[in-house]
Amino acid sequence: MEIEIRDATEADLPKLNSIVNNPEVCRFLDVEFPVEFSATQGLYHAVLENKENSWFWRVASIDGELVGSLTIMPKAKGTKRAHVADLGIMVAKDFWGKGVGKALMLDAEEKMKTAGIVRIQLEASEKNKRALALYESAGYNKEGQLKSATMTDGKLCDSIVMGKIL
Ligand SMILES: CC(C)(COP(=O)(O)OP(=O)(O)OC[C@H]1O[C@@H](n2cnc3c(N)ncnc32)[C@H](O)[C@@H]1OP(=O)(O)O)[C@@H](O)C(=O)NCCC(=O)NCCS
Repeated sequence: MEIEIRDATEADLPKLNSIVNNPEVCRFLDVEFPVEFSATQGLYHAVLENKENSWFWRVASIDGELVGSLTIMPKAKGTKRAHVADLGIMVAKDFWGKGVGKALMLDAEEKMKTAGIVRIQLEASEKNKRALALYESAGYNKEGQLKSATMTDGKLCDSIVMGKIL
């Protein structure tokens, strides 16, 4: 099973919107279910508009089917945090546990090193055990815990802050 990774294009947006519109995928993301197509489109245009800040939207496919997505959003160039990037990831529910998330994380590291990024950071709900395991297996360290910083299943939850120095 070969996982191919490339930049997202506008033609991918309907599929990306359908992947996020699964309650189990949405459960741990910041967006509320259902996610309007215009929101997916808005994110795509924000990534394009921040190309000079090295924003990327990478997608993974298996046998030509788009199955996962990762966004990299470094802080603005010319600031003291320009070396820091935030990362967001999702994989289509039917393809969980097949290494797609890990492949996207490794690909992102290469892109970020090339872009001069030194630090990648992210936050995950304390309940998101699968994501926390993925990040740990990709070499991220737990750096802190933000009390009641997110909502999971309608309840306040802590966010785990994780980071990796490249
Ligand atoms: C979190 C998510 C991206 C993981 O993607 P994935 O493709 O299933 O992850 P992988 O198959 O690459 O697994 C990577 C690691 O996760 C862990 N993992 C895999 N299957 C697991 C399972 N059933 N239970 C717990 N951990 C598991 C393993 O540690 C694995 O590392 P390894 O390959 O070194 O053994 C995916 O489940 C998802 O999209 N979830 C919903 C959206 C989301 O939560 N995004 C992150 C918000 S912070």
